[in-house]
Amino acid sequence: MAQVPERVTAALEELFELAPEPDGVAGLVAVPSVRVDAALLDRAGPELRIVANYAVGVDNIDLAAARSRRVVVTNTPDVLTRATAEHTLALLLALVRRVVEGDRLLRRREPWRIEPTFMLGRGLAGRTLGVIGAGRIGREVVRLGGALGMHALTAGRGDPLDEVLGADVVTLHVPLTEATRYLIDPDAFARMQPTAVLVNTSRGPVVDEDALVRALHAGTIAGAALDVFEHEPRVHSGLLELDNVVLTPHIASATHEAREAMGLLCVEALRAVLVDGRRPEHVVA
Ligand code: 8YV
Repeated sequence: MAQVPERVTAALEELFELAPEPDGVAGLVAVPSVRVDAALLDRAGPELRIVANYAVGVDNIDLAAARSRRVVVTNTPDVLTRATAEHTLALLLALVRRVVEGDRLLRRREPWRIEPTFMLGRGLAGRTLGVIGAGRIGREVVRLGGALGMHALTAGRGDPLDEVLGADVVTLHVPLTEATRYLIDPDAFARMQPTAVLVNTSRGPVVDEDALVRALHAGTIAGAALDVFEHEPRVHSGLLELDNVVLTPHIASATHEAREAMGLLCVEALRAVLVDGRRPEHVVA
């Protein structure tokens, strides 16, 4: 358990002491990279009563299959909202102020000097921030963007996207569902401004990655900052070649604070179902 924060390990140990010895697997903690489908639920066996997803997004879980087997599914909202919103801003600032590009230039030990037009980026104050997804994370991004002087335009579920897609920055904060898969497709890119940038800390398949690479190459949009990818852990090779792209490996919620709180929520959910016999918080199925 070297990777698990101490307080979470302690809570787990307490749970193991309290929980009755099951005949099989009684509870599972899942991460988004693990597909919890009917086959996995069946492999876990009939003792399984809860899947605690170590994530707010639950697109990795077949909720209908869980429901039909009377398996409770929980997620970890709220505690990662701030971390994810902060990472969204970190990616955006890194992109528009060319932080990663500058870092790479120095590490290549290339000669450089201060010049009026050396490595110019774009400021964010006064720019429009198009937020797709009006949930907790989207609203927090609006708040943080406001502190930078950005004007937010928000599109919630079912809202038309025309206005947000015309913003200087388009940032995605929707869950991955059949309705949001490839939400950002060639048509959406065509409606963005050539000076606009796309930020994605939601789920990779919300964006048609081939279309994104084409849009970046063609100058349809100016740049992208991505924490999530269509086929994780693989990253489209077309993205790796571009300087106007900033990439991080699905770490938007990866702060000590958020990850500890997420772990504790998972243990609490397991304890509610397996020890206390009550409905846990944050039930999604
Ligand atoms: C992951 C996430 O849970 O919450 C989500 O939906 O994608 C992340 O917070 C995290 O990377 C741990 O796997």
